[in-house]
Amino acid sequence: MRNISANQKFVPLGDTPKSVIKPNPCNRAWVEVNKKAIKNNSKVLKEFIGKECLLMAVVKADGYGHGAATVAKAALLGGADSLGVATLEEGIELRKAGIKCQILILGNLINWDELYSSFHWGLIPTISGIREAIICNNIAERHKKKFAIHLKVDTGMTRLGCNLEDVSQIIRKIDFLKNLSLEGIYSHLALADQNSTEESFSTNFTQIQRDRFNKVLNNLGERKKSFCRHLANSAGTLSDDRLHLDMVRVGLSLYGYSPLNNCASDIGLQPALNVKARVTFIRDVPDGTGVGYGHLFKTKRKSRLAVVAIGYADGVSRALSGKISAIVDGVLVPQVGAIAMDQMVFDITNQPNIKVGKALTLLGSDGGKTISPQQWSDLSGLIPWEVLCGFKNRLPRITI
Ligand SMILES: Cc1ncc(COP(=O)(O)O)c(C=O)c1O
Repeated sequence: MRNISANQKFVPLGDTPKSVIKPNPCNRAWVEVNKKAIKNNSKVLKEFIGKECLLMAVVKADGYGHGAATVAKAALLGGADSLGVATLEEGIELRKAGIKCQILILGNLINWDELYSSFHWGLIPTISGIREAIICNNIAERHKKKFAIHLKVDTGMTRLGCNLEDVSQIIRKIDFLKNLSLEGIYSHLALADQNSTEESFSTNFTQIQRDRFNKVLNNLGERKKSFCRHLANSAGTLSDDRLHLDMVRVGLSLYGYSPLNNCASDIGLQPALNVKARVTFIRDVPDGTGVGYGHLFKTKRKSRLAVVAIGYADGVSRALSGKISAIVDGVLVPQVGAIAMDQMVFDITNQPNIKVGKALTLLGSDGGKTISPQQWSDLSGLIPWEVLCGFKNRLPRITI
């Protein structure tokens, strides 16, 4: 037997062509991102909310899996006024990509280092209490500058945000801290995207949140006009213009999907993402053949199967096993058996001319057919946000 040793040395070839050293990102599986669609969605949303209202493009979680810098630039070109991210690092990434507009960090930064970094990069932190406000003030005081902040108020999400009854007092304290500039006050809707039978309850609760927020603002008298007031996510933005206030923060709709049933196409939103993967092997098998881990699928006829190089390590949930299809030249082919870490199998018996190397569209549009994140959500118990954010870095993002 040949001796295999961990000490064996790898010797690179001297004459390897560049294309082999750095393989084509579309060799295996990839996410295609359409910048024009994002720009269109930003423009359409801007028109929808009207001139009096600002548009914040929410590009957290790597732009909902589309690539944060790509999406941010396209959204700004389409007319978005500012950007929202979840973390400090996401904000810094955008600054490093050369983006200069206002960026609000929607998560809570808790220590001096993080807030100092946020100050350094000109990122606006969200403040839910006086503790972080004092740290911000100390940082800005040292530099004899102002630190722009937004105050978050909890109107019913029960996550971040100060209590309603504390708002006036916190603002009074913030006003006392001379190096702070309170530029915004906001809250977040908890039920605006519920399409289910609970619709009337969710609509009511959204109104309750709006009323609570307005009441807090009214208690501030003229002072309320000095900052940007914002409340609505995509669902709030699309469902009720009384939720628009001075600015809306849109995520899902920027990417071309509506959280409300059948409303996306109404205003001209275009999905911006296609997930594609190539056939790497084809095999013909007899009737009764078990396929993949656990043999979750057994052929019921003589079948032609295509192995496709994408799996749950790329972000296609195993919960979708045997439930999804892919589009090949406008025709749907069913996925069969368990979705594995790196591969899944499609039954192409009815499309026997598919060859090794053919690209299948798992999510998105091709030849007049569309598969949406909502369809995957309905099949797996995920939500569209989770489907989009689930695509891993192993899938190259190709901008078109
Ligand atoms: C505070 C905040 N605002 C706005 C959004 C955007 O929400 P959507 O993607 O539903 O538009 C999010 C997303 O989770 C959020 O956390």
